[in-house]
Amino acid sequence: MLKKKMLKAFNDQINAEMYSSYLYLAMEAYFQSISLKGCANWMRTQAQEELMHAMKFYDFVIERGGKVTLEAIAKPETAWNTPLAVFEAVLKHEEHVTGLINDLVDLAISEKDHASNNFLQWFVSEQVEEEASASEIIEKLKLIKDNTSGLFMIDAELGTRVFTMPAPAAE
Ligand code: FEO
Repeated sequence: MLKKKMLKAFNDQINAEMYSSYLYLAMEAYFQSISLKGCANWMRTQAQEELMHAMKFYDFVIERGGKVTLEAIAKPETAWNTPLAVFEAVLKHEEHVTGLINDLVDLAISEKDHASNNFLQWFVSEQVEEEASASEIIEKLKLIKDNTSGLFMIDAELGTRVFTMPAPAAE
């Protein structure tokens, strides 16, 4: 059974992951509006991953005998000036989420909730990957600067990203 504090923190994290999904859908819409279909595909995939993250938390709360409580999802930003600005916003957001995951781990440790700590370690590793992939794209976009053909090459590369469901949501 989840303790009250832990349950509240997991419910907050479900909301944070849903917001992440919403934010990446807004970023997809931005890329669709400037016809960068590959970047749009990357964002759609990212949004699907975030929904999967939310569901992992959702299923874990239920598995531990807690009640999922959904709250309103905040309105995401909807406009950016350049593709680089979007990916910089992705990195900033992921760094924020890493902080949230670290806080959850701290809480699980202080509550002596080993099962939650164990569950959260998947997210600790996931955040390393999320920050690394955003950083890599930012570096590439900085290298090409205003080179249009370079941008189209990056767009084509990001167009190949596909969503894969890793493991059953509650595992
Ligand atoms: Fe669910 Fe991008 O962290």
